[in-house]
Amino acid sequence: MLPLIDLKKQYQRIESRIKEEVIRVLDSGQYVMGPKVQALEERLAQYVGAKHCISCASGTDALFMSLIAKGVGKGDLIITTPFTFFATAEVIALTGAVPVFVDVEKDTFNISIESLKLAIRAIKENDSSIYPLPDKALRENAKLKGIIAVDLFGLPAEYDAINEIAELEGLFVIEDAAQSFGASYRDKKAGSLAEIACTSFFPAKPLGAYGDGGAIFCDDDELAETLRSVRVHGQGSNKYENVRLGVTGRLDAIQAAVLAVKLDIFDDEFENRQRVANYYSNGLKESGFIVPVIPGGCKSAWAQYTIIASNNDVRKQSVDRLNKAKIGNSVYYPIALHDQKAFSYLGYKSLDFPVSIFLSERVFSVPMHPYLEVAEMEQVIEVLQEGN
Ligand SMILES: Cc1ncc(COP(=O)(O)O)c(C=O)c1O
Repeated sequence: MLPLIDLKKQYQRIESRIKEEVIRVLDSGQYVMGPKVQALEERLAQYVGAKHCISCASGTDALFMSLIAKGVGKGDLIITTPFTFFATAEVIALTGAVPVFVDVEKDTFNISIESLKLAIRAIKENDSSIYPLPDKALRENAKLKGIIAVDLFGLPAEYDAINEIAELEGLFVIEDAAQSFGASYRDKKAGSLAEIACTSFFPAKPLGAYGDGGAIFCDDDELAETLRSVRVHGQGSNKYENVRLGVTGRLDAIQAAVLAVKLDIFDDEFENRQRVANYYSNGLKESGFIVPVIPGGCKSAWAQYTIIASNNDVRKQSVDRLNKAKIGNSVYYPIALHDQKAFSYLGYKSLDFPVSIFLSERVFSVPMHPYLEVAEMEQVIEVLQEGN
């Protein structure tokens, strides 16, 4: 079996260091937050080039805490894309705000700047004939507050344009960098591309813990203080003073120890992900599949290597062949968010976002991790080319 993501190979490389560091935490008696977590936050902030890092319990918490810190709630509209992991839009709805979907680009899977402009105009003019909007009753007296842009599959979105539009319109931008830790955009690292950036340390992510974890990055001192308060039930100057509502969003010291060991080898792993992606893209050039497009000035973290089949039948046949050859694969994401039952109350129609629908019917991902060998990549390419 060739797994989609092989965490065991990585573990074999770092096993002794991990055991040493985890035992150190066990011996220390400090299990939640503490010096290990603080030291990791400092390293992570430096790595991405942000002033502050606020570690937390998951990528979902990172996004949710960021919205809470920005005061998002009922009566607010927040723009995001429908072709992403559920959590990106879920957190918007959990605050009481309304998600407003904007379609993605077919070649990058990231937010379409033209659609973003249209959606903002449609909201301002309260006219869904300009761009599809959520149900009219949900928009009544609601105010557009911000944008969550997603760096899908590890590729940063177009932040120059997004930040410029946001500034013009008085909106905040959150970078959902859950999949893009390590990626870069015009010499800046993912995690530093918007006012707030959120990442995930779920084990399968480019930088993954051995449990759940996440982090928020920002430059603003006051925002960082608010986020630190939100992380612990809206704590004030001491433990039993609560100045706002918050969550239990802390990172534990064992995950921090694991992440510190993995950060030591991260740059080497990052380069190996580029190696794997380049090998696949060369090998699949003539295959009839559309391979990922990386715009100039960007580097993807290659959380996934995702290709586009010419239609849904071809995807089905390809997935069957991969399964038969015992090659790990997955479809991210088979149901666009506006088509999910949980978001049916928004009142969108399936074809409101044609590119997201197009992609949800055709994409699939093949094994991607830094330890893939040439023979393994050759096997993937061969199986994909059979019968295509
Ligand atoms: C784009 C995106 N946003 C948010 C999340 C949520 O992260 P977590 O699973 O750590 O809560 C994920 C994780 O899969 C993700 O891929």
